[in-house]
Amino acid sequence: MSREREKELAAWTAVDWVKDGMTIGLGSGSTMNVFIEKLGERVQQGLSVEAVSSSVKSARLAEQHGIRVRAMEEATAVELAVDGADEVTTKGLLVKGGGGSLLREKLVLEAAEKRLILIDAGKYVQAAGAFPLPVEIVPFAYRQTMERIRRTGLEPELRVRKDEPFVTDNGLWIVDCQTKGVTVNESLHEQLKQLTGVVETGIFAAMADDVLIGKTDKVEHLTF
Ligand code: A5P
Repeated sequence: MSREREKELAAWTAVDWVKDGMTIGLGSGSTMNVFIEKLGERVQQGLSVEAVSSSVKSARLAEQHGIRVRAMEEATAVELAVDGADEVTTKGLLVKGGGGSLLREKLVLEAAEKRLILIDAGKYVQAAGAFPLPVEIVPFAYRQTMERIRRTGLEPELRVRKDEPFVTDNGLWIVDCQTKGVTVNESLHEQLKQLTGVVETGIFAAMADDVLIGKTDKVEHLTF
């Protein structure tokens, strides 16, 4: 079964978690796109929800599908945040940011009462590190920031799209770091956060309450 199909299965199941009257935190990425489209169908059928979004792209998609999107500052409560991930470890640690929305995703997940993560089976791993770790940095003096990151043992590479640095919704840049055997955990996150120029890392510790894994013939539900 293709990864796309597995993502779809997880996303379709997740829509059943959404109840009338909820404010939903929307993550970003291809899995979330499927979720948003499906949620939009439910809204057309009469489900009443509002959303806050971790990216301009997800917000636009949600609005196109009839879902009302509010600013984070206006939301009094986010009952459920739903998001994808690039890796989920058996201990529930997430690596995120492959799509470039890590800082806002973290803000939305932190604000939520319940966090539901959707992945395809290939992303569930014993230990994180195979996926290059995204780190959001300030453009000013980025070479010096990258050098500081390099000194932690990681190998950062500036994310480039169409020959230009990839710019996040926050006007920041992203470096994707080969982990080169460095353990990806909360202490690496803390170490990176202390470096001048680093704004956020793609390490999300203790930010998944539930994970839905799309598999060939079923969706597996993990609780952390
Ligand atoms: C967006 O920046 C990421 O954190 C996504 O959640 C992650 O990359 C998963 O994306 P896909 O659903 O496209 O695999």
